[in-house]
Amino acid sequence: MAQSSHPLVEAFTRAGQGQVFAHLDQLAPAAQERLLSQAAEIDLGEIARLNCLLLTPGAAAGINLDGLSPAPYEPLPEHGGDPAAWASARETGEAALRAGRVAAFTVAGGQGTRLGYAGPKGTFPVTPVRRKPLFQVFAEKILAAGRRFGRTPRWFIMTSHANHAATEAFFAAHSFFGLDPARVHFFRQGRMPAVGFDGKILLEARDAIALSPDGHGGSLRALDRSGALDLMAGEGVDTVSYFQVDNPLVRCLDATFLGWHLRRGADMSAKMVPKSAPGEKVGVFCRQNGKTVVIEYSDLPLARQQETDPETGRLRFLAGSIALHVLDREFVRRMARSDHGLPFHRADKTIPVIDAAGNLVKADKPNGIKFEMFVFDALPFARNPVVVETRRADDFSPVKNADGADSPATCQADQLRQFVRWLQAAGVAVVTDGSGLPSCVFEVAPSFGEDEETFTAKWRTTVPAPTIKDGLYLE
Ligand code: UTP
Repeated sequence: MAQSSHPLVEAFTRAGQGQVFAHLDQLAPAAQERLLSQAAEIDLGEIARLNCLLLTPGAAAGINLDGLSPAPYEPLPEHGGDPAAWASARETGEAALRAGRVAAFTVAGGQGTRLGYAGPKGTFPVTPVRRKPLFQVFAEKILAAGRRFGRTPRWFIMTSHANHAATEAFFAAHSFFGLDPARVHFFRQGRMPAVGFDGKILLEARDAIALSPDGHGGSLRALDRSGALDLMAGEGVDTVSYFQVDNPLVRCLDATFLGWHLRRGADMSAKMVPKSAPGEKVGVFCRQNGKTVVIEYSDLPLARQQETDPETGRLRFLAGSIALHVLDREFVRRMARSDHGLPFHRADKTIPVIDAAGNLVKADKPNGIKFEMFVFDALPFARNPVVVETRRADDFSPVKNADGADSPATCQADQLRQFVRWLQAAGVAVVTDGSGLPSCVFEVAPSFGEDEETFTAKWRTTVPAPTIKDGLYLE
């Protein structure tokens, strides 16, 4: 069946993107439908604007660093913060959790290429003894918060087209790890087509456009489009606790962080850790033209990364971003619907493509561009954003790479160090190496303790006290 007069084909041709349908007439009807429905997802005007903005030589002039200064943040009490303000923040956050105002939100739509694991990253086994998958760790933390505050928050999980079905099936196969399935919500994020360096949309098969997830910043649109925001509004949830799927150390529902955000009437807040070294590969919270912004490490010249504060001797641009946020529900809606929403960034990638003759070509160097939005780009739009310090060891050890830094091995070691610190806080002597790592491998379930305070309280009432040894599992 000739489809050349289909309105989508005409629109793509008018936009100079007719190559998308070069093989249409040779496809079986089901394949034609697939290609047309993918094409229908694409906003041709958006692609034209992005091509103009990000592809035209000289157009992407780089990041403007004029007038950049470090962003102020709320230091921990041990770094000079006011203990009373921290205590008030915690009370406010606890009250919000008790009142059911907070939802947990995980972005799990990434491709996880660096880890190279064949499955949704949230299904990756990560804990030292039980090898619990990331999703289970978060589920158990959310359940623990429910027990503590009398209400189990709803959990929203953003997936991608590629991992949605596998993610849902995984939860079903594990009985939602004890959560009420009616309160766990999966939705797909949006996709963007990849383009060649000439701005032409690429095909990955004769019947498939090279589409990929639109970045974690796509979560704002996806929360809106999926109906998640309406569901929240219907039951008085106005605050969203945002975290990434790769970080099992995270406090998914940190009352104090939530409280800082709520007391300031913030649209969006962020946690920071002091950078471990000038060159650490994390974005940095800065102030520019009265706005809070995150400047990516690759955009901050080395000399500025190395600047030190003459008074403290610490790095001047100290506040590293660890992708933990609190978002106001209506701010998410405004951002999702704004014409001036999040910008797209360009990432040059090696993309397997179909050439004009219909053959698959695997390039050995970047041959195209993917467009992604970053959630932290919402910060400059936020009213009263607050950046709050946290201890890295309490909140951050992501699994990004198969080996080396930020790998399963470093993450397991960080989990063990955390358990050891909790034990030491409870008065237990544990032999460790110089880095705080114990000689045996054990595990604490979130049901036993989710942080130092809940752990020590439980430990004191556990009689007889368990012996810390290889394979011990505290639940
Ligand atoms: P990363 O930046 O680590 O990207 O995502 P990634 O795609 O997971 O991994 P690589 O770069 O291919 O190795 C940080 C967080 O943002 C989510 C990821 O699932 C992770 O929780 N994310 C990223 C999305 O939800 N959607 C995206 O489009 C990109």
